[in-house]
Parts: sequence; structure tokens; C-alpha cells
Amino acid sequence: MLKNHYGPWKANGNPEIFLPSESWLNHPFLFESAGIKPSFLPYFSSKTKAFDFVSFSEAIKSLPAQSVVLLQSGAQNPTGCDPSPDQWRELASIFSQRGHLAFFDAAYPGFASGDIDTDLEGVRLFAEQEIPLVFVSTYGKSFGLYSERVGILSILAPSEEVGKRIERHMKLLARAESGAPPDFGSMIIESVLSDDTLERQWRQEVRHMADQLKSRRIALREGLEKLQTPGDWRHITDQSGMFSYVGLSVEQVTLLRNKHHVYLQDSGRISIAGLNKFNIDYTARSISAVVKATTPQ
Ligand SMILES: Cc1ncc(COP(=O)(O)O)c(C=O)c1O
Repeated sequence: MLKNHYGPWKANGNPEIFLPSESWLNHPFLFESAGIKPSFLPYFSSKTKAFDFVSFSEAIKSLPAQSVVLLQSGAQNPTGCDPSPDQWRELASIFSQRGHLAFFDAAYPGFASGDIDTDLEGVRLFAEQEIPLVFVSTYGKSFGLYSERVGILSILAPSEEVGKRIERHMKLLARAESGAPPDFGSMIIESVLSDDTLERQWRQEVRHMADQLKSRRIALREGLEKLQTPGDWRHITDQSGMFSYVGLSVEQVTLLRNKHHVYLQDSGRISIAGLNKFNIDYTARSISAVVKATTPQ
């Protein structure tokens, strides 16, 4: 719908979305398959192993006015690095000045802080400032409904009239895609979110899961530090959510895979959810051995 109806794209004939260089691996493919060109913005500093706010915000400032930029609302996949509340405020002000549209992907609300509302503060801030935005969220993760394909799409409309027009377009698009989409997943979500007790229980379960992720991060960092692994490992606990960019090179990742059978992406992204009390020590020992073997004395 964006491709066919977003005014600036229609005017310049150039549907292009700007993504963080480090983002969900599938984002570029998704947009490409919809005929939208993905371009990339610096996001993560491999030096500090943290969000590079200065480079990201400068890049956003220098984009053509009314660009479309994808942001993840929190617990960023793959880096585990999100803007701070102050940085969200600054980003909102840049979007507002430049007239950019924010395409928010909220795949992991609650996974960073444990609190769903806290993790959506950035989105709320943008919405309050009436920055044009598209918000997509999957319930695959936060409800564990992976294969039910259930999620939300919200578009902030400048008026009720425009909102109604957008809704009509969305219905036509949905109709073109499938006649009767499955509704089992959405019925589960509806049952939980329309019942105070169930909703409270769900929020507690999300918090419990975020706490679990935090404790696994602590265990991995402590394991690496106890083994006197060369380097600084604080970023593992500074980052949050399900993924961590641990800062390993492709050579180190390959060694981990081939010699120790610890599997992670070439980017050095670890799935923290894949760690547990049975494999965390082994993982720390393996990473430590590989880092020691590849670090010059
Ligand atoms: C950042 C991000 N967005 C979207 C998705 C898609 O989620 P789903 O397959 O539940 O729609 C994922 C899945 O890994 C993700 O990490």
C-alpha cells in the first residue's frame, strides 16, 4: 500500500526504504519483494558494541525530506541495542523536522525491559508528535504463536477521513491476498487481551521471559570474565532482548562452529534464548577458547 499510495514515492517514482545496516535479515527481502528498494544507514558501532546514535541520527538528518525509515521499537534484532529515551526524543524531533515517515517494526515488545509499555515508549512518543507512522507488530514472539501468522498493522492517519480511506485500501489489499484469512490466532489474542486477569498474567509471563534473558546474559558475561577472556564483555549485559552482537569476527564464528559446534550467525549474533543451564558454561568456554586462540599475545 505504501508503494502505491505514499505521496512522496508517487511523486519521485522512487520507492526506497532506509533500514539500519544491522536489522532483521529478512527486512531487505521483504521490501524488495514489494518493489521497494532497501538502502542502509549506520546503526551499530563494532568498536563500542553499542548503538551509534551520532552516525544514525546524522544519516537520518541528511536523507531527502519525507523519506521512509524503518525503526525497531525495542530489543533490536540482531544487535540488542536500542535508542535511550533521550535519543528517541531527538530522533522524533529529526523525523518531525524532515517530514520522514517512521516504519516501526515491534517484534519484541517487553523483551528488553520486561514491560511492554516501556518498550513501546519510542513509538508512543512519535505518535504523540503526530509523526507519520506505520506500526507493525507480530504476536509470534510475545504470545508464542509462531505459526499462526497473527499480528497488527496500525497506520497513524492525520484525520478520520484519511483513516477511513486507508482502511478501505487495506481491505482491498487483504481481499486480493486471501478471501478468509485464518482467525484462530487472533481469537486467542482477543480472549487474553479482553480479560483483565489473563492480560495481567500474560504481561507477567513476558516479564518473566525478559528476566530469564537478562539472567542468561549475566551468566554468559560472568563465564567469559571468569575465564579471563581477552576483551571487554560488558556489552552483553548492556544490550537487551533475545539477541546479542557479541563482537566475534567471521573467523571466530567459523572456529566456534567447526571446532566447538556452537552455532551463531556470521555477524556474531547470538540467540540468548538458545542459552540454558545445560549449555551456557560450554558456550562461554568455547567462546573463550576461540578468542584466546585468535587474539595476538
Ligand atoms: C525484527 C523482526 N521483525 C519481524 C519478524 C517477523 O516475525 P513473524 O514471523 O512472527 O511475523 C521477526 C522475526 O524474527 C523479527 O525479528
